[in-house]
Amino acid sequence: MLDWTDKHCRYFHRILTKQTLLYTEMVTTGAILFGKGDYLAFNNEEHPVSLQLGGSDPKALAQCAKLAQERGYDEINLNVGCPSDRVQNGMFGACLMGKADLVANSIALMQDQVDIPVTVKTRIGIDDLDSYDFLCQFIEKLMPYTKTFIVHARKAWLSGLSPKENREVPPLDYDRVYKLKQDYPDLTIAINGGIKTIDEIKHHLKYVDGVMIGREAYQNPLLLTEIDTKIFGTHTPIIDPLSAIRALYPYIEQQLMKGAQLNHIMRHTLGIFNGRKGARQWRRYLSENAHKQGAGVEVVEQALTFIQ
Ligand SMILES: Cc1cc2nc3c(=O)[nH]c(=O)nc-3n(C[C@H](O)[C@H](O)[C@H](O)COP(=O)(O)O)c2cc1C
Repeated sequence: MLDWTDKHCRYFHRILTKQTLLYTEMVTTGAILFGKGDYLAFNNEEHPVSLQLGGSDPKALAQCAKLAQERGYDEINLNVGCPSDRVQNGMFGACLMGKADLVANSIALMQDQVDIPVTVKTRIGIDDLDSYDFLCQFIEKLMPYTKTFIVHARKAWLSGLSPKENREVPPLDYDRVYKLKQDYPDLTIAINGGIKTIDEIKHHLKYVDGVMIGREAYQNPLLLTEIDTKIFGTHTPIIDPLSAIRALYPYIEQQLMKGAQLNHIMRHTLGIFNGRKGARQWRRYLSENAHKQGAGVEVVEQALTFIQ
């Protein structure tokens, strides 16, 4: 998720869950190929991690996929779901649902360059192209080249709605995603959109192969601590939030040495104590102090004293 699931966030999430697949923010081919920063940077501890690419030039996508594999990513995911104007002008994201041949060609070229899986994140439709038949035609075009689809169970309106509204206003239609799995049993179908609890995840898994959690995982990271045991059935102990924060300290120190700022790391952890006494003071103390010059783990320790 743009601006949210950066490498600091993913490092933190990996402390909370060992089994889930983590995704990067969408990174455009332009940023990777022509940008000044290292847009492919990630921490080794993040594995398994999927790089989400945004783009519509098959050659550029293939080039980026190759670079990503060389850097050690476990999967490439193509964004065919983001409705932002900025994204449409560059002709990628959800508007690509109307360009199935181009998407198919891009995936074919990418998969040709890499051994890791190339997967697709998509919506159930765009604008008036929102019938089940349209979704099937889109999927069928891509099927020869990829078997894995993560489907955000609502359509996107490409004009008129902001990206935020496009995550809330078009109604969720989980049945449509279930039907996709029923009609194409050989595909791996993961469902996304509005899913918040372990019980909901378990319910969806009766009908599809996977569940992608977006906002809830970020805003309520404690949810992630239960996934390994309750969904993947591992017997590892569930980490408590205090230990999870302290487990970050070596990483914080290492990152501060490299010039990172404490608030850039801690902002992803703010929701971990939600619902507990002192959570508000924890958030406030960090918001007021973690951006200050020289702020380090002692600031975090101080913030933890508010938690009861
Ligand atoms: C701040 C923010 C940034 C997002 N950025 C991306 C992105 O880069 N790529 C993407 O595929 N989806 C992105 N999304 C959409 C989410 O991945 C997800 O599809 C959507 O929020 C619905 O799932 P949820 O209800 O579990 O959050 C973003 C969502 C939010 C809130």
